[in-house]
Amino acid sequence: MSKQEFNWSQEKISGFQEDFLHWYHLEKRNLPWRATNDPYAIWISEIMLQQTRVDTVIGYFYRFMEEFPTIDALAQAEEQKLLKVWEGLGYYSRARNLKAAAQQIVALYDGKMPATVEDIRSLKGIGPYTAGAIGSIAFGLPEPAIDGNVMRVVSRLFCIDADIAKASSRPIFDQKMRQIMSESEPGEFNQAFMDLGSSICTPTSPKCGECPIRRYCLAFAENNQTDYPVKSKKAKAKDVYFVAGAIEDDGTFLLTQRAETGLLASMWHFPLREVTKKEYVHLASLWDKAEQPGQLDLIAEELTPDIFPEWPVIWQKRHFGEITHLFTHLKWHILLFYGVKRQSFEVASGEWVKETAFDTYVFPKPQQKLVAQLKKYQKLDKDF
Ligand code: ADE
Repeated sequence: MSKQEFNWSQEKISGFQEDFLHWYHLEKRNLPWRATNDPYAIWISEIMLQQTRVDTVIGYFYRFMEEFPTIDALAQAEEQKLLKVWEGLGYYSRARNLKAAAQQIVALYDGKMPATVEDIRSLKGIGPYTAGAIGSIAFGLPEPAIDGNVMRVVSRLFCIDADIAKASSRPIFDQKMRQIMSESEPGEFNQAFMDLGSSICTPTSPKCGECPIRRYCLAFAENNQTDYPVKSKKAKAKDVYFVAGAIEDDGTFLLTQRAETGLLASMWHFPLREVTKKEYVHLASLWDKAEQPGQLDLIAEELTPDIFPEWPVIWQKRHFGEITHLFTHLKWHILLFYGVKRQSFEVASGEWVKETAFDTYVFPKPQQKLVAQLKKYQKLDKDF
């Protein structure tokens, strides 16, 4: 590659900015956080968008802003209410960090979002990407916001083969973005990258024919777009196996609350017990051979396995299917069983709850999938 292709002249940079921003102003997605200048709303949207698709975020964003319209309201949020608004979005530490950061803002900045990148960066849950996004979009600061999308586009523009999975590659992209970014419209410039990355410069089949900046793109010129970005494979998520019990007592089900710290802290689900893969496969195969759906009354005590050996429960002699859920480093496999409580028993931090009241509890995604699975079987039973 010639130096000229890697280090653009000022004229080329200006032409690039003009073409790209022109396209953005014509084509930009109409998103609720783009219709406001409120730094608080922009902050909330950027935190939600960290690990979650735009389409999913929109509804959550509206509900969150309605429930907690100001930094003060967020700083005083009740934990379970906060988690309820976040329910299903995942990565719940994001919600807890938001509240902690709102309290920082009240304590240190008189309840107003700070306006320098250093101060924004000092808030809980805000890393370099989010600080750049808020700084540029809400305050017009010439800061890049580098995420996977931006690294993909920039790696193609300049044929950069640094591994984007490595933190050590970040300064390369940061430096490149600072060289080419618009100082007059940095927020729009960053969001142009986001939109291009999601609609045109996509990971596997980029639509180069529609790309407004293809004449600046080295990978397009060399027709090797899909060689970029270079990304080493993540370690495979670890498989973890559980049995879950939907234990019924006169129209109520037992829910247990998780510990206050750690994965899915303070959230509620059916009792879960971790089992070995061997036990899991055995239970699944044993009970697969048992009765078909539609026979909820057919309870065979002699077949009852020790799903929760400490509790007096009469288990249905088949499982209610399997659900899986992928976290960043873990893959949960859960086999759902249905049983009826035989006599009373104590559970640390548990409650018997009517199905119609489930929505007043905060359920993580795996529990939502278990409830859906239970409903499916209840329906099959009714239809039988
Ligand atoms: N992803 C992260 N931030 C975004 C934004 N402001 N607009 C669209 N997609 C985004």
